[in-house]
Amino acid sequence: MCGIVGYIGKREIKSFLIEGLKELEYRGYDSAGIAIIENESMHVFKAVGKIKNLEEKAKDFKTKEFGIGIGHTRWATHGKPTELNAHPHLGEFSYVVHNGIIENYKELKKELENKGYKFISQTDTETIVHLFEENFKHKKDPFKAFKDTISKLKGAYAILLISKASPNTIFFAKNGSPLIIGKNSKNEIFFASSDAPLIGYADEVSYLDDGVFGYADKEKIKAFKDSQEINLEFKPLTMEKEFAQKGGFRFFMEKEIYEQSRVVSETIMGRAIDGKIVFEELEKNFFEGIENIKICACGTSYHAGLSSSYLFERISKIPTSVEIASEFRYKKPLLNKNTLFIVISQSGETADTLEALKMAKNAGLKTLAICNVDNSSIVRIADKTILTRAGIEKGVASTKAFATQMMVLWMLSLYLAQIKGFDISKEIDVLLKVPKVLIVENSLHEKIKRLSKRYLHGHGFFYIGRDIFYPLALEGALKLKEISYLHAEGYPAGEMKHGPIALADPELFTIALMPKNLLYDKIKSNVEELSARDSTILAISPIEFEIADDFIKIKEQNHYMLEYFEMMLIIQLLAMEIAIRLGNDVDMPRNLAKSVTVE
Ligand code: F6R
Repeated sequence: MCGIVGYIGKREIKSFLIEGLKELEYRGYDSAGIAIIENESMHVFKAVGKIKNLEEKAKDFKTKEFGIGIGHTRWATHGKPTELNAHPHLGEFSYVVHNGIIENYKELKKELENKGYKFISQTDTETIVHLFEENFKHKKDPFKAFKDTISKLKGAYAILLISKASPNTIFFAKNGSPLIIGKNSKNEIFFASSDAPLIGYADEVSYLDDGVFGYADKEKIKAFKDSQEINLEFKPLTMEKEFAQKGGFRFFMEKEIYEQSRVVSETIMGRAIDGKIVFEELEKNFFEGIENIKICACGTSYHAGLSSSYLFERISKIPTSVEIASEFRYKKPLLNKNTLFIVISQSGETADTLEALKMAKNAGLKTLAICNVDNSSIVRIADKTILTRAGIEKGVASTKAFATQMMVLWMLSLYLAQIKGFDISKEIDVLLKVPKVLIVENSLHEKIKRLSKRYLHGHGFFYIGRDIFYPLALEGALKLKEISYLHAEGYPAGEMKHGPIALADPELFTIALMPKNLLYDKIKSNVEELSARDSTILAISPIEFEIADDFIKIKEQNHYMLEYFEMMLIIQLLAMEIAIRLGNDVDMPRNLAKSVTVE
């Protein structure tokens, strides 16, 4: 997830910007840059990799007087992590930094190219600075030019722009990506995408709302919404850095669960347009000759893969098999060239998944990676990659990475159906509702917190579901065991009577995933069988279920995938609340590592 900082004042600007970017390192990045205007001269430094590379490049530069500056850490989404793609992006006399995704950048870029503008990066961001300069040509007023620029942008953004046309001013805009303005009694003004860089500098901060834009210079901050000037509300700033990095949440895992709505919007952005799925990263003929799909992954990513196999068969009508990468490697698999080989990985570095990918490549299969980290080993080797855009995931237990993987896989199943000429417009309408479903409501979280106290013991948990809710049950069980250290299994509900039901007693907790829109009657009778044997039942469903000991009601929906995403949220929160009650560090569970680079 990219990070932004900005500064107006007399302090040594380079140091503030670089220290600020270091505070944002926890968000993950693959390149960084700063741009400064002092005495009407512009200075820019960019580097790929760690911030120390940027520090090295800028080591001989220091500001001495009043000036303004902007800085950025970039997490690649459009174009590779290179110096040209790193922010700030330059026009002729202006620089911009941007978090988020400009959905309509292609149209804007085309218009600007037709007017003679040359683009040197592959990013969506560069469009903003050229558009600003084009508008400035006509309006001659930098703020009017900025305002017109913002009005043309579709998508999510937090933007800071500086220009020689107004060398003491930072222009800002916020929509969908966070942006904070800070100030202090020394007339300094600060910008950042989270609190952490501002601690120790700003006395008070204003968290900008969506749709707010404006400008700041040494005398004033002017903010607007819907063309009306507004007063920004400033609050005192918390002083704890770690608390600030976690955005006020108790754990990174909790923050990442809450981020899911936003990151899933970013996953969709620019990829679901006019009732069609668009994957810029795939050429049309990539799927030519493909008759079936094989998916390979580990852990949570494997559960996303298994879930998607139901979608590839049901929606795209393509036979799909899924294998755990460590099993696949040594079974001497038979591989055919008409198979598309998909690997799924948050980190892009998981050793078993990487080796499975190499095997498929060596066997001449077309390979596709669904991955969260650009330039990772898996991305470098796969023929094609779709990035999931979850931003860095710090909690060891994967949450938002899973949500974004599922969204990419669902979209891919629709994309393949679209190639075959099936009408997918209704499914796209449903898919666009997912970000809303993923907003964590306080009442839901409080209920799960309360319920969790009843599930701290027992001799085991069975998460059960049918169809695509079976892999979700596997994921629920994995979440619980990895952070609570309680024994949990995921099981296909219809399979319980073939053995596991022998374990049923009041100390066996059954977490039943009971969607209304998919096989409700089937799962209902499976749960009744368990209840009749005295298992304690926690049912998750939109339909009240009398025999459940505990019940979490989800919203009435008309599509099982909306129920899937809401239940995903619930099983994540449940695992987390149980683990917190047991006193565990949910971000760093014992014996586990975030990236498993050994077999
Ligand atoms: C569980 C978890 C792991 C990973 C697995 C694969 O919460 O995070 O099971 O899913 O180690 O990792 P990636 O996706 O990085 O290949």
